[in-house]
Amino acid sequence: MRSLRLVLILLFAALAVVTFTAQSEAQKAKTIDELAKMYDSSSCKECHVKEYEEWSKSLHAKSLVGTPRTMATIRTAITDGLMKEQKFSGVKDVKDIKVVHLMQCLKCHLPQIEDATDDVAREIAQAVIDGDTAKLGKVNINCLICHNKKAIVHKWHDGEPQKNVIYGKKDGPHPHETFTSHKKSPILQESVMCGQCHGVGPNLDQPNPAQCATLYGSYLHSYIPAGGSQTCQGCHMHEFKKGHHMSSYRDPEVGKRAVDVVVETPAYQFLPRPGEWAPTTILTVKLTNKAGHRIPDG
Ligand code: HEC
Ligand code: HEC
Ligand code: HEC
Ligand code: HEC
Ligand code: HEC
Repeated sequence: MRSLRLVLILLFAALAVVTFTAQSEAQKAKTIDELAKMYDSSSCKECHVKEYEEWSKSLHAKSLVGTPRTMATIRTAITDGLMKEQKFSGVKDVKDIKVVHLMQCLKCHLPQIEDATDDVAREIAQAVIDGDTAKLGKVNINCLICHNKKAIVHKWHDGEPQKNVIYGKKDGPHPHETFTSHKKSPILQESVMCGQCHGVGPNLDQPNPAQCATLYGSYLHSYIPAGGSQTCQGCHMHEFKKGHHMSSYRDPEVGKRAVDVVVETPAYQFLPRPGEWAPTTILTVKLTNKAGHRIPDG
């Protein structure tokens, strides 16, 4: 009797899992437009003008296009990598592309792709090949990626991010028709928040690991052990006064903070013959990296 009950319970549990997966599969976005709508953060602009303005000028706001080297490199990863050199990828044509194929780049450049069907992966691949920046610009790393989707790392400890919650620094009601409350994110002010995408090395979790951003690795293994105590947010948002722009050397003010350069010129001169001298210069250049990680990266 006992074991029958156990079997029934297990059966129910299995059914529950199946129904849940099937349901979430049905809820997935089927087009880029549907994915953009699922993560629409245009309403945030109305009240958070400063954050919105800063963010819209950042590379997070164009994470599939970049400078636009990102779009060009994703194109190469598809046409030269998946379609040619990686002969076991199963991809010969855009119609063969699935989410799993683009994950090698999009796990960081567009993590919400996991909430989309393979149709969206194909639509993105085609837009990348066509250089359709308008279409690619509809989806990016926006407010809802950091303040909801990526706001919790330890999901067995803290649970999955909840649907109608904005994760910030404290708990309280939030005057938004969908996101009706805000809660404290355990990681928002910690470096691991950024480390989720700013990489530790080759992406060994992928079937065909590539390596892009790695500076979270050097932050953890070099900057911190050498006595560094700032967080990513501490430098990039607060100390540099860049808020949600989070810029790099491309911003001259941030570039100035990258390195200290000391040039010593102990010139040695002698007089071979009266009235005639040979100038010699020895340059000793000392370059000190002041960033909290290796530079350049990515
Ligand atoms: C109608 C105005 C309004 C809109 C629209 C709005 N917010 Fe807010 N938001 C607020 C107010 C007011 C607070 C401060 C609440 C408090 O301090 O208790 C706030 C607080 C926050 C915080 C900080 C919370 C914390 O715990 O530190 C974040 C993050 C945030 N909003 C993100 C968003 C995002 C993302 C959107 C778009 C989905 C959005 N907000 C849309 C008014 C708005
Ligand atoms: C581990 C997360 C991660 C993965 C995986 C990843 N990237 Fe990146 N990528 C980033 C981050 C973060 C940056 C920007 C930060 C930096 O430069 O360190 C970046 C920057 C870039 C840049 C430079 C941007 C520019 O405009 O100068 C290119 C190009 C790029 N990625 C392409 C790719 C391609 C193609 C793939 C897949 C083959 C990929 N990335 C995989 C996180 C990642
Ligand atoms: C790349 C991740 C990221 C993105 C994208 C992002 N935020 Fe934030 N946001 C943060 C972090 C981290 C903090 C906390 C910074 C700190 O340490 O004070 C924060 C803080 C805030 C705060 C609280 C400010 C305060 O000082 O209390 C508001 C409001 C906010 N964000 C709104 C937004 C809005 C609106 C957007 C979209 C335009 C957005 N954020 C996009 C990471 C992000
Ligand atoms: C969801 C993934 C993700 C998260 C979380 C994230 N980033 Fe990024 N970040 C990226 C990607 C991808 C790029 C590069 C976009 C491109 O150029 O294609 C980028 C670009 C940047 C850049 C500009 C790099 C350059 O070459 O100019 C800075 C600075 C930066 N991020 C800092 C941060 C900080 C600080 C945090 C944490 C508060 C953070 N990021 C959180 C993915 C992320
Ligand atoms: C001690 C201050 C400091 C800390 C801590 C710090 N950064 Fe930086 N970071 C800088 C400076 C200065 C630059 C400008 C140099 C540059 O862009 O090459 C920079 C550049 C970058 C870039 C552009 C890299 C490139 O290719 O040039 C990214 C991306 C970035 N930081 C992200 C992060 C993330 C993510 C963290 C946390 C893991 C972090 N930073 C921690 C100071 C810091």
